Amino acid sequence: MKINGKQHRSIWLNEDGLSVDIIDQTVLPHELEIRTLCNLAEAAEAITAMRVRGAPLIGATAAYGMALAMRDQADDDSIDQAARLLLATRPTAVNLRWALSRMCEVLHAVDPAERIAVAYQTAAQICDEDVDINFRIGQHGLGLIQTLWKARSPGTDAFHILTHCNAGWLATVDWGTALAPIYQAHDAGIPVHVWVDETRPRNQGAALTAWELDAHGVAHDVIVDNAGGHLMQKGLVDLCITGTDRTARNGDVCNKIGTYLKALAAKDNEVPFYVALPGPTIDWQMADGVAGMPIEERESSEVTRVWGRLPSGENSQVQITPAGVTARNYAFDVSPARLITGLVTERGICDASEQGLLSLYPEQGGFLDD
Ligand code: MRU
Repeated sequence: MKINGKQHRSIWLNEDGLSVDIIDQTVLPHELEIRTLCNLAEAAEAITAMRVRGAPLIGATAAYGMALAMRDQADDDSIDQAARLLLATRPTAVNLRWALSRMCEVLHAVDPAERIAVAYQTAAQICDEDVDINFRIGQHGLGLIQTLWKARSPGTDAFHILTHCNAGWLATVDWGTALAPIYQAHDAGIPVHVWVDETRPRNQGAALTAWELDAHGVAHDVIVDNAGGHLMQKGLVDLCITGTDRTARNGDVCNKIGTYLKALAAKDNEVPFYVALPGPTIDWQMADGVAGMPIEERESSEVTRVWGRLPSGENSQVQITPAGVTARNYAFDVSPARLITGLVTERGICDASEQGLLSLYPEQGGFLDD
């Protein structure tokens, strides 16, 4: 994606060919700060502190974290230790486990002397594949938007899409998942307008999605998290589309806290509710998402305080609750498959069900029978 006319990914190899550059998402939208990760500990910290976030980008960063680890030590134990450390950074996004399994498999299979080069090559491949996958998600989603747009009454001014959290290019290596169809629809001349849920507590919608959409020239309005139901009731939402951090094989979708309430409101108001996801976000080992999904619980200070820019131009946190109040901070929830109209993947669109997913990923059928 372009920032000020310059092509950017969310992660890339530094020009020294060894360290890895990221956009520090904790200071967006107020500052565009590039941060260089030089070792395994810095890669792990970037994920834990959410300098990088979003399921596909967490996976890509972990892959490069493994490459950085191989520079220090490339024996068998070091591979496993680095993978364990990275796997513990965040619990919900399954792309992390997927990327680390792939790195470990590839690295264990080669001689220690080759491991640094192979690790960098594989991490770069994971990034390139993510870009390609998300472009394809965008193509399939564009087809869906075109169909829904054509079905709208003539003379309609805009096609209104509601999204939650940030599932744009900042959450992936490029394009995004839920935002890829929106970018492609905008580029195809459809007058899309996006309702951007602010997405408390960390405000990924207000800070990141709004910043991305603005940079691409897509019309949008930020709304408070509780506004979506009202807008749907008033016929002001044509489509909801979100990303996901992990989708169980029965089609239950785990995504940023609050997604479930939007899915319920969409069902009640007959608004189509789609979820965009790349193959590596499907957890084929999880049969029931509502029962089995590991839900990250983060620091309560994310709820009791908000971060932003003061009129003085300084970035700061302010307390919004009484001093000493207790708070709980569940970062994700699960929308049951019955609330989801369809899943938009790089291979096409399917029902949110095991049968639907297997129709697009038949190679996983054998694995399930084991
Ligand atoms: O906690 P985050 O910011 O890493 O969570 C990300 C999300 O929940 C996004 O909505 C997203 O859809 C998953 S990544 C494309």
